[in-house]
Amino acid sequence: MSVFLGIDIGTSGTKTLAIDAAGRILASATQTYPLHHPKPLWSEQDPDDWWKATIATVRRAVEAAKLKPADVKAIGLSGQMHGSVFLDKNNKVIRRAILWNDQRTAAECAEIERRAGGRAALIRMVANPASTGFTAPKILWLRNHEPKNFEKTKKVLLPKDEIRRRLTGEFATEVSDASGMLLLDVSQRAWSADLLSKLDLDSALLARCYESEEVTGKLTSIAAAELGLSTDCLVVGGAGDCAAGAVGNGIVTKGVLSTSLGTSGVVFVHSDEMKLDPEGRVHTFCHAVRGKWHMMGVNLSAGGSLQWFRNALCETASADAKKKKVDVYGILDSEAAAAPCGSDGLFFLPYLSGERTPHADPDARGCFIGLTLSHGRGHLVRSILEGVTYSMRDSLSIFESLEVPIKRIRASGGGARSPLWRQIQADCFGYKVATINSEEGAAYGVALLAAVGAGEYKNIAEACGATIRVVGETAPNRAAKKVYDAGFPIYQQLYRSLKSDFKAIARL
Ligand code: XUL
Repeated sequence: MSVFLGIDIGTSGTKTLAIDAAGRILASATQTYPLHHPKPLWSEQDPDDWWKATIATVRRAVEAAKLKPADVKAIGLSGQMHGSVFLDKNNKVIRRAILWNDQRTAAECAEIERRAGGRAALIRMVANPASTGFTAPKILWLRNHEPKNFEKTKKVLLPKDEIRRRLTGEFATEVSDASGMLLLDVSQRAWSADLLSKLDLDSALLARCYESEEVTGKLTSIAAAELGLSTDCLVVGGAGDCAAGAVGNGIVTKGVLSTSLGTSGVVFVHSDEMKLDPEGRVHTFCHAVRGKWHMMGVNLSAGGSLQWFRNALCETASADAKKKKVDVYGILDSEAAAAPCGSDGLFFLPYLSGERTPHADPDARGCFIGLTLSHGRGHLVRSILEGVTYSMRDSLSIFESLEVPIKRIRASGGGARSPLWRQIQADCFGYKVATINSEEGAAYGVALLAAVGAGEYKNIAEACGATIRVVGETAPNRAAKKVYDAGFPIYQQLYRSLKSDFKAIARL
């Protein structure tokens, strides 16, 4: 039997998925871990928590699918992008990893632009402007603020690549995740010697960079024993969670766009050529498809906004849901469905962690605007779903303005399980929104990459063609689209109106 594992090192937890060669899901296991916010807008995790969750979920998935060690032929790794794991000369983790949604590096982003010779020069070298979430600013932050830790640092790895090191003993990454370090010459799919020298960073800090389907090593005997697998098990490059999720959603040819609603919200398009947004509002990264690229817009608090609302304001609904043994999100969803489209003039700006696309503003803040005495909890929830969807429409509009071909949209991620949120997407975007047979996203995508790496399929397009199909479609409602077409310019204007106030609040 040939089985492939996809392991996704997410922000809320790690998921391991086991599939067979035909792409059928045999088992899935998830384990959560804490997220640390030592200061407002700082975000950190402990790589040991990822490792413990990897071992536990692999063991659970293998047991649930009743697999023998030799059945598992290859593993694909996916993970939250941009996070920085700093290792010393003995491969010990020096401090907690700084994550993608951490906003401490505004000064380092300015430093990178200055050292690169300006924003345009930086975009020429690495295809993207500096963003607070990216990895290079985090390395400079360590050098500027924790010089002793920086001196000890011998390697900087991305989250999934630290797990790879513990699995295989190799320092390796792959092009899709490496693109988000801001140190990769995205056009050449290789580290940018030019930018590294301008930032005075040693290339020895970085891992060897592969294509996503390439084999990067095999399990060490220690890792194989910990996981209950064989030392013949291959570990392929895998992908950052956005590219992995796109592969898992079948976005491997041009014309199909995906929206993914996890903690972050991602709007993703495949591109056969490398295309740049001259204003740097959306990212251009290498795709997990050999020799192809993708563009994407990222909203930092998508499902994360709803999760915040549930945690901060829904104690009674959560207790009620627990008593009735139902999901509290189901209760909130039906309350939102009962509120009218447009939430009776209530707007939500989802900038709870600052924002990336399109504003790149760490000082932006979340807001409800337009509250009246007639608004209830259903309106608040609906306005969150609508605000997050408007934020994705911001990215969609940028792709449209860059004439990126968009024929179809596929929705994925936890948020796409809500029929209401899918309908809001169709109405707000004005496109049909499709769902596919697998809801497993990034973990499924890298399990498919593992199957390609092990020789089960010729390439990832063939693997997706054989395993992924559309199972549902939500069409836009004309009347609702009108409401969102009227609301969108107001939503966009609210950020412009509040921008300087956000700065003043951040200075308090
Ligand atoms: C992508 C990004 C997020 C994380 C979330 O650029 O920052 O989507 O990868 O896991």
